[in-house]
Amino acid sequence: MSARIDLGAVEEFEEGVLQVRQVSSRQIGVARWQGKFYALRNICPHQSAPLCAGRLLSGVREGDEVGTIESDDGAPVVTCPWHGWEFHLDSGESLWDPRYRVRAYAVAVENGRVMLEMRR
Ligand code: FES
Repeated sequence: MSARIDLGAVEEFEEGVLQVRQVSSRQIGVARWQGKFYALRNICPHQSAPLCAGRLLSGVREGDEVGTIESDDGAPVVTCPWHGWEFHLDSGESLWDPRYRVRAYAVAVENGRVMLEMRR
């Protein structure tokens, strides 16, 4: 079973900034990055830091050869403020070890409102 939660108007979310919203008992970080919205649980899976107090950055794209890593604006990450682990905004997966993952939620824009899809 899932619920759709209205997080606010699109204009309330500044580009490149993570905002934390309280959704029942959970804190959810919501980011607007290049016009797209992402949502993550505000708890780092390493040692439970408030992950969404970290910085948003472009992700990386690995090339086939040594020395060909490039930044990727289409795959943003958040860096944890305590120890710097990075997590993909879309999947919540850690960049360095995919066994670590923060809960990521689906987000959609409907009639100018940012809607969170939350499974119960
Ligand atoms: S608590 Fe987030 S990287 Fe350690």
